[in-house]
Amino acid sequence: MATEGESVMSAAHCIERAVVTGAAGFIGSHVVEALLQRGATVLGIDRRSPRDNALAAENLKGVMEHPGFRLVQGDLVTDELKPWVRAADAVFHLAAIPGVRPSWGDGFGEYLACNVLATQRLMDACQSSGVRRLVLASSSSVYGDAVGRGPLREEDATAPLSPYGVTKLAAERLALAYALAPASPTSVVALRYFTVYGPRQRPDMAIGRMLRGILTGEPLQLYGDGHQRRDFTFVTDAVAATVAAATADATAEAVNVGGGDSVSVLDVLRRIADITGAKVPVRDDIHQPGDVQVTEANLTKARELLGYVPSITLTEGIERQWKWLSARSRGPLHDAAAVTA
Ligand SMILES: NC(=O)c1ccc[n+]([C@@H]2O[C@H](COP(=O)([O-])OP(=O)(O)OC[C@H]3O[C@@H](n4cnc5c(N)ncnc54)[C@H](O)[C@@H]3O)[C@@H](O)[C@H]2O)c1
Repeated sequence: MATEGESVMSAAHCIERAVVTGAAGFIGSHVVEALLQRGATVLGIDRRSPRDNALAAENLKGVMEHPGFRLVQGDLVTDELKPWVRAADAVFHLAAIPGVRPSWGDGFGEYLACNVLATQRLMDACQSSGVRRLVLASSSSVYGDAVGRGPLREEDATAPLSPYGVTKLAAERLALAYALAPASPTSVVALRYFTVYGPRQRPDMAIGRMLRGILTGEPLQLYGDGHQRRDFTFVTDAVAATVAAATADATAEAVNVGGGDSVSVLDVLRRIADITGAKVPVRDDIHQPGDVQVTEANLTKARELLGYVPSITLTEGIERQWKWLSARSRGPLHDAAAVTA
């Protein structure tokens, strides 16, 4: 079994100059850290900057002074992208508007622009600049519901059940289409992340909200009956797969990145009670449109192509996120309201 970060170490040796879009976000900031630790220089691109956004400041505080890191505040939808990607050995495309529920209704235009148009513009810039590899953050949401058909393999049918999932599938297909175009210099590995959690997790996501509920007493809105299952992936595992994807032998591939187990929300609540010694306050709510009952990844391709084996169990991962969160004071930084700030 691979130790944590083992595949990060071997793969990143070949990347000297990396571009990370969405660098100020949850997963992007961890990818930046992993690349810097391995000696790469990293150009981060994000609409948010530590100067004007508290979450970005929190996410990037460990790297802003690093001599190998530079952040540009830019928008992939409108800015000229070629000057940023031109010198890169690999581009890690993490930027997107995440989240299933807000993708219904009026917010969809933003999803369309930031998830689909931005990906097309970035692929165009990479291709015309001769960038050799783009690693794309795709999502388990491209599959729709795995109930009765999991663990899902990459060749299984994609049938997203939310507007967000539709944009992630469109982005994935766009990037792969560019990679498959005749004489394309840019190969693509699209990683279908399954619910990533850990320190600095987005404030709108479940495990962080549960843990914060213990600290603040604010009840968690529990959508549905709690029997819905998720394949939770600890962030350092997701990052190991991401960095390995930059040098994997591939032209145009989609690859699952899961935690190795599909666990119910009620089970997560029980584990949190065991770890923290306190019960998460819960307020029952109805099932939300677009929320699937089950996500569950088959990891055979990830193991074969990326040498990926998840190394952090769910209990260990929650312990680490709890330790991280409880070391920080309560405050506005990790309130859901800060997500869009
Ligand atoms: N967190 C998960 O569990 C999960 C699961 C599946 C897929 N993903 C995908 O992984 C990626 C990262 O997710 P995350 O949870 O870290 O999200 P995040 O919101 O923390 O990070 C995304 C970052 O992208 C930036 N961004 C958005 N639109 C932009 C634009 N037009 N130009 C420049 N920057 C822009 C945001 O400012 C933000 O900092 C996303 O593509 C998401 O769809 C995440």
